[in-house]
Amino acid sequence: MSKISVIGAGNVGASCAEYIAIKNFADEVVLLDIKENFAEGKAMDLMQTAALNGFDTRIIGSTNDYSKTQRSDVVVITSGIPRKPGMTREELIGINAGIVKMVMENCLQQSPEAIFVIVSNPMDTMTYLAKTTAGLPKNRIIGMGGALDSARFRYFLSQALGCPMSEVEGMVIGGHGDKTMIPLTRLASYKGIPVSEFLSEDQLAEIKASTMVGGATLTGMLGTSAWYAPGAAVSTLVQSIVCDQKKMMPCCVELNGEYGESDICIGVPVVLGKSGWEKVVNLDLNNSEKGEFKASADAVRAMNSSL
Ligand code: LAC
Repeated sequence: MSKISVIGAGNVGASCAEYIAIKNFADEVVLLDIKENFAEGKAMDLMQTAALNGFDTRIIGSTNDYSKTQRSDVVVITSGIPRKPGMTREELIGINAGIVKMVMENCLQQSPEAIFVIVSNPMDTMTYLAKTTAGLPKNRIIGMGGALDSARFRYFLSQALGCPMSEVEGMVIGGHGDKTMIPLTRLASYKGIPVSEFLSEDQLAEIKASTMVGGATLTGMLGTSAWYAPGAAVSTLVQSIVCDQKKMMPCCVELNGEYGESDICIGVPVVLGKSGWEKVVNLDLNNSEKGEFKASADAVRAMNSSL
């Protein structure tokens, strides 16, 4: 029996619920929103796809009744406002910090044993806030950013290589901000071969730049932030936890000396299983990557200090 709660039934929250249901690994998804009847409506609409899409996951909607989320295995927090064109994720901090703190407290009362996945922006700082608010073991607080950014990175790589995305591997570490992401071009591969054997330095620089502003580009096109890839990334992460798959994904987690940083939540590769993030994978970064990581951590820390 596995139960996932998704707080916030906006585009990203509903997309999380949809992909979790479609992948058919959870018994129940509870979608909760403050807007009267909104989550109930989304849940009903999604449930009416079950017969068509062939899943058995029950999706339940709730207007702000946190008791419905009781004893969740995983709680996904997407609450807060999304960015509008031209806004950075960081500009959302004032409003979203209050919302995330309140949501976290409400969810903890119902599911003190849950693993928490934070999606609200600015995500690195919201994860740090959730960690500080909850006082839970660090392995049970995970910010989702790197899994999404890495999917975008692989998309841009596959476009340049002219190959299917399944043949490309690559990770984005660091913060989940337009200036703090670090797409690791040196370690990206096409069928296990370094992508630098196929793409020029200029091409790789362009892919890196497009990845970093991947979310902003879509916000400009859509008028609000993206949701399909964020929802799919969350579902992949939640599945690795619930099904104890031990997949490696870059996630925003609390560091205690790893990568030379402490008292910060930031994106590094971790292994995800039943107990949340189970270990940090240490990459042998070169000096320039280490410099980028340090600058990214400094920017995230500056943002945290404005909490
Ligand atoms: C994005 C938002 C969800 O990157 O942060 O699309």
